[in-house]
Order: sequence, then structure tokens, then C-alpha cells
Amino acid sequence: MADIIRLEPIDVPDPGEEAPGPGGPDHPMRKVTRQVAFEEGGWSGERSAKVAALFDGLSEIWHQNISDERHAPLLDALARGNPGRGPVVELGCGLCDSTPLLERHIGPVVAVDLSMGMLQRATPDVARVRGDAGELPLPSNCAGSVVMINALLFPEEVDRILAPGGTVVWVNTVGESTPIHLPAEDVARALPGDWSGVWSTAGHGLWGVFRRSAESVTG
Ligand SMILES: C[S@@+](CC[C@H](N)C(=O)[O-])C[C@H]1O[C@@H](n2cnc3c(N)ncnc32)[C@H](O)[C@@H]1O
Repeated sequence: MADIIRLEPIDVPDPGEEAPGPGGPDHPMRKVTRQVAFEEGGWSGERSAKVAALFDGLSEIWHQNISDERHAPLLDALARGNPGRGPVVELGCGLCDSTPLLERHIGPVVAVDLSMGMLQRATPDVARVRGDAGELPLPSNCAGSVVMINALLFPEEVDRILAPGGTVVWVNTVGESTPIHLPAEDVARALPGDWSGVWSTAGHGLWGVFRRSAESVTG
């Protein structure tokens, strides 16, 4: 049973505009998000190719989503979620606008994305790899933290690459309006085994930081 504690919400003085168009429960990407997290067969080669093509197209305009305000939930997660220090794997990194923050606060980052268009337009000087988070080209136990910012959760792969004692960092920059959104309890529930964690909101965003519970660590 997951032990997830909610911390007080944080107000952000100028949180900026919410993303246009709510990514509510009926948003197609929300449905994909839940299927990938909870359903066997929720991801396939065909779906992977479609999602890669979608984000290749969006990569040309994705910079319009980037702002300092959208970092508020990540900064709060780093401050109050205490993810620790160690090598980071950032999944679904997009343009890597958050990656320098992760490097500063947690440790060196390998940033992974399915979309070559995103990676080609990403912040320079970031170690980035084209890969499918559903079948990562990374060894088991390699990550001190696995970070997902508006990114799909592939529970088995996240669990596989996370080192013992490591943390999972989950951020939705516009909270429930984020198309790729899961509530914190659902993130912990989707991950194999028992997890504990904290979550909160900062401005428009939502975050959670999770660890395997001691009794579910098998070594
Ligand atoms: C909503 S965007 C978020 C990008 C970035 N994290 C941000 O917040 O701006 C989702 C990203 O996940 C990537 N993505 C989707 N499916 C993926 C998968 N299976 N493996 C790795 N990346 C994936 C997309 O290409 C896209 O860049």
C-alpha cells in the first residue's frame, strides 16, 4: 500500500498563464498516459511511431511552452521533495529546458526522448539519447533519480533503471490540465512494489517525489 503524504500547496507570485486548452480526462494523450501506466499492452511499436511523429511535429513550436514560471513545481520538488543526489535519467526531456536545473540540484543527467525533432532542437551541452522509455537503452540500477516532467510513466522500466535508494520525480507543469497527467497516488500505485512519497502543488503545477518503501526493497 502506497504511503503518499500531501504537503501544503505553495503559491507562486506570478505563475503565468495556464496552458491553453485543458488536458482533461478526455484528452487523447491522457488516455494514452493511463493506458501506458496501468494496462498491459498499453504501448506498442505502432503507438511509439505515432507518438514520435506527433512530437516531431510539435518540436518546431514547443519553445512556445517554455517559460521560467513553468519551473515552479520542479523547483519546489527539488526543495521540499528532497530527491537526493546522484545520476539522473530524465525521460521525455523534450527541449531539455529543465535539464540544467536537474544537473545543478541533483547530479549529471542523461536526457532521453523518443522524438529526434525535440532532441535536435534541445538545449545544447546536455547528454541526450534517442530512446523509448518503454524499452530503455540503459542498464538496470543506473539512476539515482528518474525524472519525468509531463512525460509518460512506464512503471516497469522506471523501476528497473532506478538504483536502490533512488527517487522518482514526477512533475506536471500545469497540474490536472497537463495532457500527460497522473495524480501522485496513481504514480505510486502504478509503480511495482510499495512506494512512499510526498507531493504538492506550486502555482499551476503539481509534483511528487517517491521512494521504494523499505519492505518492498528486495536488494
Ligand atoms: C509533453 S512533452 C514534455 C517535454 C518536456 N519534458 C517538457 O515538459 O517540456 C512529452 C515528451 O515525451 C516524449 N515521449 C513520448 N513518448 C516517449 C517515450 N515512449 N519515450 C521517451 N520519450 C517519449 C515526447 O517526444 C515529448 O518530447
